[in-house]
Amino acid sequence: MKTTIHGKNIVLGVCGGIAAYKSAELLRLLTKNGASVRVMMTRNAGAFVGPVTFEALSGKPACIDLFDRTDPDASIRHIEWAQEAHGVVIAPATASMVAKYAHGLADDALSTFLLAVTCPVVVCPSMNTDMYLSPPVQRNLEMLKADGHLVLEPGAGELACGTVGPGSLPEPPLILDRLTSLLTRKDLEGRKVLVTAGPTREPIDPVRFITNPSSGKMGYAVARAAEHRGASVVLVSGPTCLDDPPNIRIVRVRTAQEMARAVFEEMGDADVIVKSAAVGDYRVRETAAHKIKKTADELTLSLVKNDDILMALGERKTRQFLVGFAAETRDLQENAREKLARKNLDMIVGNLVGQPSSGFGTDTNRVTLFYPDGQAEPLEEMEKDAVAHIILDRVCGRLA
Ligand code: PMT
Repeated sequence: MKTTIHGKNIVLGVCGGIAAYKSAELLRLLTKNGASVRVMMTRNAGAFVGPVTFEALSGKPACIDLFDRTDPDASIRHIEWAQEAHGVVIAPATASMVAKYAHGLADDALSTFLLAVTCPVVVCPSMNTDMYLSPPVQRNLEMLKADGHLVLEPGAGELACGTVGPGSLPEPPLILDRLTSLLTRKDLEGRKVLVTAGPTREPIDPVRFITNPSSGKMGYAVARAAEHRGASVVLVSGPTCLDDPPNIRIVRVRTAQEMARAVFEEMGDADVIVKSAAVGDYRVRETAAHKIKKTADELTLSLVKNDDILMALGERKTRQFLVGFAAETRDLQENAREKLARKNLDMIVGNLVGQPSSGFGTDTNRVTLFYPDGQAEPLEEMEKDAVAHIILDRVCGRLA
């Protein structure tokens, strides 16, 4: 299973700003994800990062000049690249390029190319805070938005010029995420998808808790994939070290009881619920008010069972398509099928855990999808992002 941008022709437009160095990192990320990338850069961009860097990373000649006498095809390059592009990213987009693009001025290779582009364009402005906030730049950015282009908010912080405020180029993974979203088919448009992710923490005392090794990667991948496909996504997340995915409402919880409350509050208008969280099955009967001292040689904790959130969802669901997970170290098939039936699910993702490349904390996963009609669909080992898309492919097929 390939990522959305695998095999896509992407043109990366680079302008002359200090953030041009980050464009090299963005280019590396794009090619790592299977995109075929061409770089079109302004003369000023070359003052920050030379074309050789972009050529080495993309494996293709970079275009700077439409009147390069050593290249007989240079004068039609802007049309050819525009026609072949599936997506365009301008990063960094300087005030000058933003103005040219907004007003249709074509006086260099990149601005001329942009006028011929018909595919989705992501504009990533990056400049000094005062320049960015100036009325002309803001007006021009509004015009680009009105023209249907995706304009990313710059990051805020201390800029290279010493100013503090908005103006830095968003991090390359975020730009990649937004481009991927723009190029993904919107088959979940108008749907609300509720996802749970990560572990829960059941407190023992103020400084100790019972938890499990879930990193949240699987659930976050499902949430991101659903957002890319146009859904309105609510992610109920236990404690994780992952960055907040863009354009997703995150409800942060700690314990299984908090997760249950958040899920029941959100379930009413959800169309699809995917429960990938590793919820603590037990909690400590009485959490100590103060740190327990290690005076005794043995310590016995009394645990009580947490309510099964998924089971309750299965009982309460009306029109929601309910997907559960089953994390198993053995007898995957029997255990997953039993949970599918007992919890009244529409699909269960049987996940063999405790493997070096599958289960908790890994970037890849090996799962089998089970359905109420008895069908089983084993998937090969793949990135969690790809697993997420296959789960949603099957959900969409059944929703339809
Ligand atoms: O987060 P990662 O590091 O990426 O790891 C991913 C994962 C291994 C956590 C994920 O792929 C996975 O398998 N999640 C389910 C973990 C789990 O708790 O499985 P279970 O078989 O114990 O529970 C079955 C289902 O009931 C799950 O959907 C679980 O969310 C749900 N459950 C369990 C207990 C409980 N009290 N309430 C629940 O809702």
